Amino acid sequence: MSLIILVSWGNFLKMTHLILRKKFFLFVFFLLIQSSGMAQSFIRKPYLQKLGPNSLTVKFRLKESGNATLFWGTDRKNLLNNKVSSASALDHEISIENLNPETFYYYQVKLDDNTMLSDTSWYFKTAPKTGSKSKFSFWSIGDMYPGPQQVAVYEGFKKFRKETYTNLFLTVGDNVYCNGTEECFQSNFFDVYQNGSVLQQSGFYPSTGNHDYDGFAREVDNPAMAYYKSFILPSQGELGGIPSQSEGYYSYDYANVHFVVLESYASGKDGKRLFEKDNIQLNWLKTDLAKNKQDWTIVYFHYPLYTKGSYDSDSNPDLIKLRETLAPIFDQFKVDMVLTGHSHTLERSKPTQKQYGLSSTFDPNLHQPQSSSAAFDNSPNSCPYFFDESKPHKSGVIYVTNGASGSTSRPNGFGKHPIMYFDKKDKVGSFFGEVDGNKFVGKFIDQDGLVMDQFTIFKSKNATCANCFNTQPKSGCGPSGKPNLLSNPLSSYCKGQSVDLQANGDETSSLKWYDTSGNITTGNNFKLANLAFGKTNIQVSQVVNEIESEKLTIPIFAHESHIIQRFQLPNDLFPFVSNTISLAVNDSIQQYTWTLPKDWEGSSKTNTITFKPSQNGGEIKVFGISPYGCISNEVVQKAQIATVLSLAEFSNSIRIFPNPIQGEQVTIEVPTEFIGSQGQWVNVQGQILSTHHIQNSVQQHVVPSHVSSLLFYQVNHKGEKVSVKVIR
Ligand SMILES: [Fe+2]
Repeated sequence: MSLIILVSWGNFLKMTHLILRKKFFLFVFFLLIQSSGMAQSFIRKPYLQKLGPNSLTVKFRLKESGNATLFWGTDRKNLLNNKVSSASALDHEISIENLNPETFYYYQVKLDDNTMLSDTSWYFKTAPKTGSKSKFSFWSIGDMYPGPQQVAVYEGFKKFRKETYTNLFLTVGDNVYCNGTEECFQSNFFDVYQNGSVLQQSGFYPSTGNHDYDGFAREVDNPAMAYYKSFILPSQGELGGIPSQSEGYYSYDYANVHFVVLESYASGKDGKRLFEKDNIQLNWLKTDLAKNKQDWTIVYFHYPLYTKGSYDSDSNPDLIKLRETLAPIFDQFKVDMVLTGHSHTLERSKPTQKQYGLSSTFDPNLHQPQSSSAAFDNSPNSCPYFFDESKPHKSGVIYVTNGASGSTSRPNGFGKHPIMYFDKKDKVGSFFGEVDGNKFVGKFIDQDGLVMDQFTIFKSKNATCANCFNTQPKSGCGPSGKPNLLSNPLSSYCKGQSVDLQANGDETSSLKWYDTSGNITTGNNFKLANLAFGKTNIQVSQVVNEIESEKLTIPIFAHESHIIQRFQLPNDLFPFVSNTISLAVNDSIQQYTWTLPKDWEGSSKTNTITFKPSQNGGEIKVFGISPYGCISNEVVQKAQIATVLSLAEFSNSIRIFPNPIQGEQVTIEVPTEFIGSQGQWVNVQGQILSTHHIQNSVQQHVVPSHVSSLLFYQVNHKGEKVSVKVIR
């Protein structure tokens, strides 16, 4: 400003003239540029490669060589980051890092002449962290034969998704049908898919098909091919998986899915095809799958293992060999889904395993244990598939033929392959997948955006399926209700008893019994042993397709069992002499059950029993029974019988006279060897009435008082009861 003030008026005019001349010159220069066709524009608008949790590569092709700058950020009006691609080239490849996972970013590309792609459709979302259970979706197309049907399939998908973001864009090969050149990829692929969301917004992970190699040697990673020039793919394991060192086959992780892309057509660097023995790609595949720890595994490539569309997997040698080679590996490593193309048709199997031969060898019982449609839409037999690693029969591979994204080939193809549940020969379409933690939903979309087939898979690994059904229909799936109780339990039981219960449910159900400790047992029968006092609730539910019904509660009541006091017996019971036992009264006991030794006399149902022993001893037992039938403890006493010798045998050795009356004095004569022993008077209850020392073989004694008419005289000789004298 100070310079202008210092110059003269004449100089000012001169300078103004010069400036105007310069502007004019610049104007003419720009006109020249425009007329010579040097204005910048995109031949291939930006498309997104190797989209991971933290990084991305943006590729595009300009009409004329030039520099470009990529701007990106989370605030569309203020894109804070930029990176310049100053190669002054036609093709640009800008890799950016340090992105946050699972985050929406807006981006713009600015060219040298300020040409800018900046409308609101330019954005992407980074991948969730590896292993994350976050929900995401992918769109898959195959065999995009050029023409109105190819466009219609894409338009149908746009109608189906509307404005909803789709994370990944996959192809199953035959991306082009015009000799695989750059021009061919431009017209057949980029010109179609760069208008709209998928190439602008979704991570693009293609695979090759035979037509991509047309006009070129069928060798993987053939650098002359437009396919390998146009795409940069994760060959170094940079997004998970084992490095394949090839862009023809590779793997990557996205959220909790491991995606594997195979090259089923071209020869590998070892000159061998995928089905040949010991080839590099097959060894890589086995290593990659063996190390895979992701919840889901989805493999995609071009040649189908099972199809009856425009190719027949029962007669095409390549398909037969591929099936024999790959299907056992997919089974072994529990691959969940295989997407293929080549056959211009739409086919989808039920979960299939061990089906390696021709379709004539197919046995649904053996190869497809889950027979549902899995539509999960309230229609009959539409329960989801359950893939459970702990139950090998509850898994299998869903095989999808997705080769009709541009044309159908034959009205009826080769018929219907028996492993296929869905089979559509006369419609074009695409495949859409949505992964939500342990749930996968796959859909075929037609050109009107309508769903032609859908299926749902649940993985029980890392999830309980109770959570899977919160917002989903249950009809056509799961149990019809609570189980039916078949046994008729009593209104009450006694403590310590066992109860046998029996129930059943739907035809295909299994029953789960819950005891009060939370233990679970399965089966139609349940034994509840050693009942506790009081109320015990047993619960039973039925499970169909891993969906559990409400629980049926079975209350069981047990009464307390009762205690009977012990009773006492004399040390010795005298034979044929009446005895009485009385137990303390227990009001809770209604009836007593006495058991006497064999050939004893007596019985009772009350707390008192009178009995006469025989000459044999044994055990007296008693237990009580409550009004509820509960049996008390059992009391057992051993009954010993006193040795009683008859009067006749003793008449020569012990004599007592006169016949004693109580209080009388009697004379007792005993053999001399008894002198020094103890003599006792004993009553019929075995009670010792008096004891004395035998000092002479003839002694005088007063008979002790006794109630009964019977009395015994007993001599304890040298520690043993050697004799008893019965006195009448
Ligand atoms: Fe093909």
